[in-house]
Amino acid sequence: MEMRMMIFKSYEELSEAGATIIVDLLNQKPKAVFGLATGGTPVGIYEQLSKMYSEHKVSFKEATSFNLDEYVGIPQQHPESYYSYMQQHLFQHIDLPAEQAFIPNSNAEQLKEECERYDLLIQQNGQVDLQILGIGHNGHIGFNEPAQGLLSGTHIVELSDDTRRANARFFDTMDQVPKFAITMGVGTILKARQILLIVKGADKADIIERALTGPITTELPASLLQTHPHLTVLITEDAVTPATKERTRV
Ligand code: PGA
Repeated sequence: MEMRMMIFKSYEELSEAGATIIVDLLNQKPKAVFGLATGGTPVGIYEQLSKMYSEHKVSFKEATSFNLDEYVGIPQQHPESYYSYMQQHLFQHIDLPAEQAFIPNSNAEQLKEECERYDLLIQQNGQVDLQILGIGHNGHIGFNEPAQGLLSGTHIVELSDDTRRANARFFDTMDQVPKFAITMGVGTILKARQILLIVKGADKADIIERALTGPITTELPASLLQTHPHLTVLITEDAVTPATKERTRV
């Protein structure tokens, strides 16, 4: 694999660097296709992108985006849907046309067909140029949870207790946290030309070490990223253990 790791003292610096990679790509290739992620970690990158757009440093007019995942069981307009998250953190601040910003429709009548439609749409747009990814504390990417086997394409998943507990902070009660989601599969994710894995905080140090330096296993979905030919890891220094640093030859 060709892996590049960039270590930052602060989350602000990480976010600026992530946004700069995206803006540079867009300026070279205005029709770039992005894979976008939700969760806490990308918020700073989205803030920076919104700022750079407002300063006329970039335009998203010709770009296309595909989000990784969406909860099943809540309406699109629910404040915690990933549709709402993307509006709030990025889409309402930039000029990406709504018809070029795709998120799996978890309110479709036929969810299986929606999964197939989503993969087809990605294919029809060529290839994702750059996929942003976070890593869950259990090693998930998108909502691909640790399992004995993983599906390649976009599919419906049952969320693990770990993931539901981690996301409970956004809901009033645990019962309100969705139990299912639609997610791009690991095959869909790994087809991206470049993957930008963003990791912040000491609480991710152990899982990222195992993902990048341990055996490749579907029980730790992020370990499959070791097979990707163009992986860039942006990470805060508190998430870097000596083993991570050593094995990735910084
Ligand atoms: P986080 O989520 O950025 O909120 O830590 C990462 C993930 O679960 O993929």
